[in-house]
Amino acid sequence: MSMREDVQNTVNRVDQGRLWRRLMEMARIGAIPGGGVNRAAFSREDIAARALLVAWARARNFSVAMDAIGNLFIRRAGSDPRAAPVMTGSHMDSQPRGGRFDGIYGVLAGLEALQAIDEAGVKTRRPIELVAWTNEEGGRFQPCTMGSAVYTGARRLEDFLDVKDNEGVGLRDALAQTLAATPDVARRPIKAPAAAYIEAHIEQGPLLESAGKTIGVVTGIQGLRWFNIEVFGKTDHAGTTPLALRQDALRDAVNIIHALHELTRDAADTVRFTVGRMLVTPNSPNSVASHVLFSADVRHPDPVTIDRLGKAVEPAARKSARQCTIKVTPTLHDDPCVFHPTVVDSIERVANELKLGSMRLSSGASHDAMYMARICPTGMIFVPCEKGVSHNEAENAKSADLAAGARVLTAALLELANKEE
Ligand code: GLV
Ligand code: MN
Ligand code: MN
Repeated sequence: MSMREDVQNTVNRVDQGRLWRRLMEMARIGAIPGGGVNRAAFSREDIAARALLVAWARARNFSVAMDAIGNLFIRRAGSDPRAAPVMTGSHMDSQPRGGRFDGIYGVLAGLEALQAIDEAGVKTRRPIELVAWTNEEGGRFQPCTMGSAVYTGARRLEDFLDVKDNEGVGLRDALAQTLAATPDVARRPIKAPAAAYIEAHIEQGPLLESAGKTIGVVTGIQGLRWFNIEVFGKTDHAGTTPLALRQDALRDAVNIIHALHELTRDAADTVRFTVGRMLVTPNSPNSVASHVLFSADVRHPDPVTIDRLGKAVEPAARKSARQCTIKVTPTLHDDPCVFHPTVVDSIERVANELKLGSMRLSSGASHDAMYMARICPTGMIFVPCEKGVSHNEAENAKSADLAAGARVLTAALLELANKEE
């Protein structure tokens, strides 16, 4: 099937060079050696990225607003003032050693779609709204996907205000600083209806590249559980205190981590288990550790398995603490999500109409789309990234693939924005 001519004309306005230039301009904000970015949520760099996005949006006369958790919304009006918007977006924050595309690609592909539609002079019935979600990564403040969790009512903003980063800075203060840095952006209430949501993202895995496909039609996201595990011991002299008399928090942390690796061992290599963050007190080579806090991230696509594994974490941790007391705090509980068939089909059809090779796949990484799927028909578009590398400064993607994803996004948004109830 071929694409309707007016849709094709709009899609042709997607400008590969402009999208790439914007990506590279954003990549200068928080640039780190090795070609990556460090743009932690609510950091100076996050604030600068927001300001740049707002400037680009205002240059096209799109309206801009922010809610109480700092989610940033850019809207192109529709012809029906009562209609809920079709939404797209992703995030601008990054991992500490993140790449130039994770998150920001979805935001700038969304801006490219809005601009292409605007330049083509196309009227849509529904508004189209681009959102840059706050703190998707969760590298600085845990958990991840905070902005969309609050927007969709899955979590309350108040639940997160007392979270502290590794330096002891509170989210409450960091958020207040971010909001204060944009006094000229209108405030809007946290919750608002959405008609549909599509998020574009690099795949962050190797499947599209190895299959030689340009477009990933994402069918859903695997489930995940996050925990903070704290071990409470007692600090002592490393040279004098007999081992049997110690309450060594780091030694027990190692015991627990070992037990959790055993718990999640999986010959099929489907379970994902990661301890990626650890804070040790007093963190001195010749003092026994008195306190350790570490994270545990467990993922699986099957709801029964992720439930079983999630429930087994605390008992396994308790059983393996030999000298110390522990506290296990769940910080994230997301069941696997399945995207809406209408949106999935529409992405697949548009990719075919644009003669782009596509395949269906499920997401191993988490995304704000997971929460949006709770409130409206949702789907995602993946494009390949080099060797599947992500959460790494070497993350890379081809300009042509990124533009192809933006074209699919543009056509799919147009279709959804003009759909009758
Ligand atoms: C998001 O980056 C995730 O942890 O999957
Ligand atoms: Mn991401
Ligand atoms: Mn990420």
